[in-house]
Amino acid sequence: MADRTADPDKLKFYSYTVFTQLSGAVTAGMIHLGDKLGLFSSLADADSPLTTTELATRTGLDERWVREWAYNQAAAKLITTESDDEGIERFWVTPEAVAVLARPDHPAYGMGMFHRFPQTMGALEQMPSSFVSGLGHDYDSHGPEGAVGIERSFEPWNKHNLIPTVLPALDGVVEALESGISVADIGCGAGGAILLMADAFPKSIFVGYDISGHALERADNRLAKARVPNARFVDLRGSQLPNDHSIDLITTFDCIHDMTDPQGMMCKIREAIAPGGSWLLVDIKARDSFAENVEKNPMAALLYGMSILSCMSSALSSPGGAGLGTLGLPESRAREMAEVAGFTRFRKLDVDHSVNAFYEIRP
Ligand SMILES: C[S@@+](CC[C@H](N)C(=O)[O-])C[C@H]1O[C@@H](n2cnc3c(N)ncnc32)[C@H](O)[C@@H]1O
Repeated sequence: MADRTADPDKLKFYSYTVFTQLSGAVTAGMIHLGDKLGLFSSLADADSPLTTTELATRTGLDERWVREWAYNQAAAKLITTESDDEGIERFWVTPEAVAVLARPDHPAYGMGMFHRFPQTMGALEQMPSSFVSGLGHDYDSHGPEGAVGIERSFEPWNKHNLIPTVLPALDGVVEALESGISVADIGCGAGGAILLMADAFPKSIFVGYDISGHALERADNRLAKARVPNARFVDLRGSQLPNDHSIDLITTFDCIHDMTDPQGMMCKIREAIAPGGSWLLVDIKARDSFAENVEKNPMAALLYGMSILSCMSSALSSPGGAGLGTLGLPESRAREMAEVAGFTRFRKLDVDHSVNAFYEIRP
């Protein structure tokens, strides 16, 4: 039998590896607070480095709590600190930190996933019973703030890239949108893509479909504020997609892998799409095997974990769910499924994104 005695040096290194994960999780919670309490934006807006007293004053918070938070963030090298000759510590954020932590209009802004961190981790409570029953939970189980977190995750990149880069990569779609066509965004969440497109192409008609009450409520509220007359949102729990080949452009952003019946949805998309129409499928850049995902994606552990807490859980939220999950729709599977649904053309688009792959699929 193999020697089961732990090697003391390897044991130390292994323990360090395990606790590094806990350090990341706890620090992620502190990033959530930094975003929610305006600590990052105050640091970003300051003309010079701030003491924790100054930071507390600017944010209206208690200095002792702010100081401990700043120590956590500086220890994790997310914000920067320096002491002067008198030992007074000051904190600041680099231009890169400003982009990721404090500027929602920057394409690299990353606070969305941290916005929904408490709801995402809160799902842990339900996981033991899901592991036993096999049944997961849909996006509404993350509450209204879950929908806001998703919105904040995807919109910064979309705002910069959807209209100028992604849509022009599709054959003839921008010209068609300019002259006026019918568009559906399925799994539209809080409606960001619909609102962007409807504003850019006033002659076209846009409908966003989802099954999340929280996301749709948010989408409707944003629509009312935006006063975009050519867009609306529909709850697919109480209605159906058109099945008369009347939609010229269908988009699905990061949602097919979340669906309990992705193949069924692709068949419905085939029934809805016009003969000359296009389906823009955007989904996570997954590979064909676990080994490849781990080798090629430094975020693989994060994505498999998010899958359990969110994507796969949603995809198993009704009995018999397909359960694809976050990394469950690599190009090869998307191609096969699109073919089964009756599509004949499948093209990977040359769009550069850190997480997502983009495909044009046509009847
Ligand atoms: C990760 S979110 C993406 C939302 C949005 N597309 C975006 O990019 O912000 C996935 C969305 O898919 C929705 N969804 C899951 N299953 C669905 C289904 N069968 N039909 C329509 N929407 C669905 C969820 O409710 C959720 O809003």
